[in-house]
Amino acid sequence: MRVLVTRTIAEEGMTVLREAGLDIDLWAREDPIPAAELRARVPGCAGILSMLTDPIDRDILALGPVRAVAQHAVGVDNIDLATCAARGVRVSHTPGVLTDATADLAMALLLGVGRRLREGDAMVRAGRFQGWAPTMLRGLDLAGARLGVVGWGRIGQAVARRAEAFGMEVVHHSRSSGIDLDTLLSTADVVSLHCPLTPATRHLLDATRLGRMKRGAVLINTARGPVVDEAALVAALEAGHIGGAGLDVYEQEPRVHPGLLDRDDVLLLPHAGSATWGTRRRMAVMAARDLVSMLQGSAPAHPVALPAPLDN
Ligand code: DGY
Repeated sequence: MRVLVTRTIAEEGMTVLREAGLDIDLWAREDPIPAAELRARVPGCAGILSMLTDPIDRDILALGPVRAVAQHAVGVDNIDLATCAARGVRVSHTPGVLTDATADLAMALLLGVGRRLREGDAMVRAGRFQGWAPTMLRGLDLAGARLGVVGWGRIGQAVARRAEAFGMEVVHHSRSSGIDLDTLLSTADVVSLHCPLTPATRHLLDATRLGRMKRGAVLINTARGPVVDEAALVAALEAGHIGGAGLDVYEQEPRVHPGLLDRDDVLLLPHAGSATWGTRRRMAVMAARDLVSMLQGSAPAHPVALPAPLDN
């Protein structure tokens, strides 16, 4: 049975697939498989081990006898779940194993922006460090600052635990718990995003909501880029309304809004929230095991709930 693995993954995941006797077509690169390659390779495949950068849409799903999609990520906004449901395609993802790594990176961005690490590092490297000074590089006092977590799933809660250990006061907003979003935005010193990308959260932070943030507050996004209107964020930074941003994700990845690139008050990372050795190993094994289960006709251990197919 043929499966397409759309990127080089940790070897342990490949071992799971090989031991299951699958015929593996591997896009053995670090860069995303181009759309034309994806279209050319899907026909004949019973399963896809997909990445968040692969558009697994109606056209792709129509190409082959695909019965299972195992996503090597927790977010599945790149997959057309309605079409999967309609075609009887099972879908799995990798929740839980990347919680700590992603929460760690959100904290790294919070500390990095709050304590102005980019400016300090540049100052030292450029030979501009003249010695200690009482007024130099003053930043955010974490202890006593208020963190507003948007999205109260595993990662949001893991960030909250870390922030509390730094003495921050944590409030949160989600669909089912916490305070209302406007109160969170207008009172938090740092806002950290941890919600999935859905039609309801696309541009959740648009110009109006960014404008409701406390003056000088910091925005952290390790969730999905399109949750923030990037052009509006640039405008809010330029106006001095927002004090800084730590971004791991972008509205049109891998493109980054040019208005962000030269700013000292912004830290930019290449969607690396889950990029630790152990996490990527666990993601690869989890996705591979679930792909094998689904192709053997069993439910995956980490299923993605699909919408009920529409009758037609
Ligand atoms: C995910 O899993 O959705 C992250 O964005 C990548 O690890």
